[in-house]
Amino acid sequence: MLPFDLNEVNAYQQWRAWKLSAYPVNAEDLLVYLEDPYSLSTEEKNAVLDRCLKYNLVIYSCDQEKHDISDKNLPRTLGKQLGLDRLDAHLCVDEDDISSLKVASSGKRHGGYIPYTDRPISWHTDGYYNSSSERIQAMVLHCVSDAASGGENELMDHEMAYICMRDENPDYIRALMQPDVMTIPPNIENGVMIRDSVTGPVFTVDKETGALHMRYTARTRSIEWKQDDLTREAINFLESLFSEDSAYILRHRLKPGQGVICNNVLHNRTGFVDDEECGKQRLIYRARYYDRIKDTGLDAVNERL
Ligand SMILES: [Fe+2]
Repeated sequence: MLPFDLNEVNAYQQWRAWKLSAYPVNAEDLLVYLEDPYSLSTEEKNAVLDRCLKYNLVIYSCDQEKHDISDKNLPRTLGKQLGLDRLDAHLCVDEDDISSLKVASSGKRHGGYIPYTDRPISWHTDGYYNSSSERIQAMVLHCVSDAASGGENELMDHEMAYICMRDENPDYIRALMQPDVMTIPPNIENGVMIRDSVTGPVFTVDKETGALHMRYTARTRSIEWKQDDLTREAINFLESLFSEDSAYILRHRLKPGQGVICNNVLHNRTGFVDDEECGKQRLIYRARYYDRIKDTGLDAVNERL
């Protein structure tokens, strides 16, 4: 079955019906409690993988009375049990390749990058500036501490965005699969080039697994879109999907001990306010992987159809 092949209409319709049958859903439905995140029970693992297969994401929760939730080995070990192993090492990660996202008052490595501020972050998938050989397939966001207020995430399975676009006009998908549709200008700091410009498609279908990958950012400053009418229309339509009343947007504010595991779905974050005196300083560990969550490929989908 090749649902993402625009010529395979029947396969697409069959897969689409299966995807849509899992909605409506809300964030609480995607929450799985983990007694021991370092060693998942069969039941817990099945519950996690079932949600990841249907929605490309799961929200987990573990008890901070029982576990040291500031241990970076927690998200790392949890990820490993789900086939997530190859961590992305990029500019701002800590030495162990897991980023500590918090407001950075100073520090050269983080200066100016929005994830290290309390400002809102618009819709995106992670690593949209990565080259095709270093695609971010999955990530774990683990909450150590929440803010005094704000810091909520909205999440949308990128496969649902694909469905909405293909249903509206399959040419939108064609436009966003063009290899030169999206260019991220080079990252230059103080005259030194940190990263060359990156050009690539929004939607890619993995040759080996048949899985859909998406690169996207709603930012307008750090991105150049191909200048043709269809691309412009497609991007406008995609942006319209992020309206408040969308049935496919999940909203959740991570509490300490909770986290999101996902196949790099679309997401954003509201701004937040820390309160140092009350110990309310938002701290999120972020692990990004070149692997996809195991058992969430088309083979596993086929078994459900
Ligand atoms: Fe992100």
